[in-house]
Amino acid sequence: ESGKLWGGRFVGAVDPIMEKFNASIAYDRHLWEVDVQGSKAYSRGLEKAGLLTKAEMDQILHGLDKVAEEWAQGTFKLNSNDEDIHTANERRLKELIGATAGKLHTGRSRNDQVVTDLRLWMRQTCSTLSGLLWELIRTMVDRAEAERDVLFPGYTHLQRAQPIRWSHWILSHAVALTRDSERLLEVRKRINVLPLGRQSPGCGPRAAPSSMDATSERDFVAEFLFWASLCMTHLSRMAEDLILYCTKEFSFVQLSDAYSTGSSLMPQKKNPDSLELIRSKAGRVFGRCAGLLMTLKGLPSTYNKDLQEDKEAVFEVSDTMSAVLQVATGVISTLQIHQENMGQALSPDMLATDLAYYLVRKGMPFRQAHEASGKAVFMAETKGVALNQLSLQELQTISPLFSGDVICVWDYGHSVEQYGALGGTARSSVDWQIRQVRALLQAQ
Ligand code: ARG
Repeated sequence: ESGKLWGGRFVGAVDPIMEKFNASIAYDRHLWEVDVQGSKAYSRGLEKAGLLTKAEMDQILHGLDKVAEEWAQGTFKLNSNDEDIHTANERRLKELIGATAGKLHTGRSRNDQVVTDLRLWMRQTCSTLSGLLWELIRTMVDRAEAERDVLFPGYTHLQRAQPIRWSHWILSHAVALTRDSERLLEVRKRINVLPLGRQSPGCGPRAAPSSMDATSERDFVAEFLFWASLCMTHLSRMAEDLILYCTKEFSFVQLSDAYSTGSSLMPQKKNPDSLELIRSKAGRVFGRCAGLLMTLKGLPSTYNKDLQEDKEAVFEVSDTMSAVLQVATGVISTLQIHQENMGQALSPDMLATDLAYYLVRKGMPFRQAHEASGKAVFMAETKGVALNQLSLQELQTISPLFSGDVICVWDYGHSVEQYGALGGTARSSVDWQIRQVRALLQAQ
């Protein structure tokens, strides 16, 4: 006997290099628990179908519990013939309960088993990651609420645009993450399909409609990897903003020591390694997503060994997402903001849009008002003064609509309060955004 599950038709031995190349146990051992869970459900199905007696089923269930116990206690011993987790568990089951173990595999293939296991594992992982994602969102909303009176510059093209609330910035990222959470729920729905049939009708996982499709499709893996990729684009964007904001040049925020590292050469340095790693992990996750799609492309129908490669991608991306979400939560919850610097970074030119709106309120069409405000910016620049330093007489050379009340424009607090529409940066708008995200949080 070759000691292999498929040894019957083989005479020659497998080359050791091939043996190692073929084995997936090094990583699919993570599936031990769901593999046992799946086999237990399957043996119940076999009993119902009359392929196992009640006594045989009990023997198998009991044996599988022993197998799980060994894994849980770290006493499960792998041997050199354990190609993958399915092989290892069945081999051990046979050692524990004898020949009856051989009945468990009736009517199923490892190809069914592996996809069932992976789905069960990913279902659990989605719940864990969703919890971590919401923890991050909660941390962000708490901050947004506590610091909603802090103003700082909003940017487009990294050029000063308009004054905004710091909370508006935080919430812009939190809102993106709520979409990731929604998307994860959708992905989980399509993960929650069982190729080996469902146990209890009604609720719970759906059964896969086609056996041929069920063993070959990895849509749910691709979707999960894409979910992670998109979530990482959001997190890396937030990380990038914060990396800039914690430079001396910006000095808006300071990272906690807990999430920074120093330089081995330059003693003054405090580097935002946590954020840089979040940014870089995005690349790793995208690579896994692209890699899986390339593996899937052009595969012939049903199972091919290429599909074995799906698991490393899933495990690595799951671990990465778990770490990134926890570190991001830590960074955000311990971040210190420098409110004075944020305020000092605001400059009157950032109110040029408001100056145009001032003219709009006096009846001027926006296009013309934009032109007039632009002229004022140019005039201030030419004279080497701040926009709010232009005298009323000077402004009136641009438009007679300017009058004494124009000084109301030069107030950052007043500026942000104008934007009270949905999604705006006025206190009421930001409060509304906080309530929206909190409502989603509560629904979790
Ligand atoms: N270890 C394999 C995988 O991860 C399990 C299925 C193997 N099936 C087979 N016919 N060789 O995909």
